[in-house]
Amino acid sequence: MAMVFKQIIRVDSGCVTYIIGSKETGECAIVDPLLDVDLIVNETMKEGFTEITRVIDTHTHADHISGARNLAKMFNLPGVYMHTNSDSKFKTIPVQDGEALELGDVKLRFICTPGHTCDHMCILLGDSKVLTGDTLLIGDVGRIDLGGDPRENSDRLYDSLHGKLLRLEDNLELFPTHVGAAQHLANTNASSTIGKEKANNPALKPKSKDEFFKYMTEDWPPKPTDYQNIIRLNRGEASVAVI
Ligand SMILES: [Fe+2]
Repeated sequence: MAMVFKQIIRVDSGCVTYIIGSKETGECAIVDPLLDVDLIVNETMKEGFTEITRVIDTHTHADHISGARNLAKMFNLPGVYMHTNSDSKFKTIPVQDGEALELGDVKLRFICTPGHTCDHMCILLGDSKVLTGDTLLIGDVGRIDLGGDPRENSDRLYDSLHGKLLRLEDNLELFPTHVGAAQHLANTNASSTIGKEKANNPALKPKSKDEFFKYMTEDWPPKPTDYQNIIRLNRGEASVAVI
């Protein structure tokens, strides 16, 4: 498989954007683009692509402003791929659980994993990699207190982790949307595997939903600055251009 796969990590925040493409057909998807779209376009062109053909957000982000809408506009795309639960006000291409997307010979399959947000999805790449967004991080999981009822979010996240992600192959490489800057996170690796996380990730140790909720709400760090406004912007309820 002639797949291009590249991480762009913003060092100050640990946020990660992914470039995924097919050398065979020149099709290219950007997952979780940060707002600096010029940087993303440059990095994509360096990989030999002449255009971006799909833009995907794994969920409505609360900690950074997404560049997805701007990129979609720049490349005249019909919309941003998002989970069908997304209540974004701009044009999205709604994605259902299990849906597939092909970039030439590169196959993506979406796995809906609500919990961190109600509109979260992970992405399987062929049979070797999984993008886990903010559902499963390296040594941690995404927080559940930035929208909706935390207990419901926690129960959903538990189901998404134990019912879906941890059932994937142990040797699958795991790539999250955040590295090195999350709660409980002392690890600066940029990737892991499902097997390593099963063995080492403390957030996966609680055996019941009650224990998991207790873990998720102990020693919680401060919420991101201005997170409600960021969510509003990312839903398209205000123009990103004003920032
Ligand atoms: Fe997030």
